[in-house]
Amino acid sequence: MSMFEYRNGEMYAEDVPLSRIAEVTGTPVYVYSAGTLTEAYTRFASALAEAGLNARVCYAMKANSNIAVIRTLADLGAGADVVSGGELDRALIAGVRAEDIVFSGVGKTPGEMQRAITAGIGQFNVESVPELELLSHVSASAGATVDIAIRVNPNVDANTHHKISTGRQEDKFGIDIARAQEIYALAASLPGIAPIAVAVHIGSQLTDVSPFRAAFARVAELVGELRAAGHDIRKLDLGGGLGIDYGGQTPPPVEDYAAVVAETVGHLGCELMFEPGRYLAGPAGILVTQVIYAKEAEARRFAIVDAAMNDLIRPALYDAVHRIEPAREPAPETALHPWDVVGPVCETGDTFAKGCELPALSDGELLVMRDAGAYGAVMSSVYNSRPLVAEVLVRGDAFAIVRERQEPATFLGYESLADWQD
Ligand code: LLP
Repeated sequence: MSMFEYRNGEMYAEDVPLSRIAEVTGTPVYVYSAGTLTEAYTRFASALAEAGLNARVCYAMKANSNIAVIRTLADLGAGADVVSGGELDRALIAGVRAEDIVFSGVGKTPGEMQRAITAGIGQFNVESVPELELLSHVSASAGATVDIAIRVNPNVDANTHHKISTGRQEDKFGIDIARAQEIYALAASLPGIAPIAVAVHIGSQLTDVSPFRAAFARVAELVGELRAAGHDIRKLDLGGGLGIDYGGQTPPPVEDYAAVVAETVGHLGCELMFEPGRYLAGPAGILVTQVIYAKEAEARRFAIVDAAMNDLIRPALYDAVHRIEPAREPAPETALHPWDVVGPVCETGDTFAKGCELPALSDGELLVMRDAGAYGAVMSSVYNSRPLVAEVLVRGDAFAIVRERQEPATFLGYESLADWQD
């Protein structure tokens, strides 16, 4: 499910050879495929529709918030799940309708709430009692009534990397499901808010449907109880989390996920919302990098590339594996050798892969890191004073630079000496 493939001996993004993009933009560069984004969105939305579900997809734009990526998905009908004022701005600039925006996150500030209310977003997902009280105050003061979900924590282990698990009691997210009745009663008594939904999100990169089943079943039970207590629960936001195959994983097909949704909450008659991030954006992006030095040391071969942990932090942060392939297709029968692919940053953690099977490499060779469309560019930093890299969107035989490579002067422009240092 990705449109990065070898053709005529070299890798293409849809109908554009990567070497052509690299020539124009230099490296490293993130390359996104609009066709792959479209395919993933269509598959996700169709699986839900075919399972008979009344669903709205709010793309979790934290995965990739480039406005051209958001626009591609918005044109297909996606709304947006935002977690900050900055993401709200991006969603609106990219053309997402305000009513299709849901605001998640544990730490919304009063200013962010105000902006979202003024913009007229569709829903707030509230994660704590103090947030509930503040939102009520901000909303009522603006003379508004906003639809809210309480994000419940169902205490289900998502069996994923501990840094991206969110649904256990010890995690900071949501309100303990055991206290939900009490909190909905409080919400119903407060001005400026209408508690009409329940939200849940238990973690990211799930490769098994059972935690989803357990969490959604608990939420279904809760909806019954809330309705019995007189709350008009019309919507369910089931979050994101569906995993992708980075090489070696076997995530469930989205059709199985949709079947679990239908089985657990289908009977409730709620409008359903989903917040997929990685599933939509992950396979649709690659990071193209260039070998600076092919260094053959005593014990190992190192490919020192021009991308580093500041450009793609997932391997350093989560021990994540991204498949690495040469942009030039190896001829059949080419001997492969184990290479350690490393970046130039002065940390041992700046390692993309150890013992990656690649052909003989020479300086200047282009390599591709796959499945970097989600949580890649958005998590980059300027560590080691390395400017943010370019991003390119491809559609068919066309490509566009959708983020310019940053000039060092740009970030230096934000700094100055203290006035006593002149
Ligand atoms: N909704 C909420 C409330 C979330 O917190 C997240 C992700 C999503 C939806 C989207 O989840 P997805 O469908 O992408 O799994 N940086 C990490 C992933 C962090 C995920 C944070 N929350 C990584 O690179 O693996």
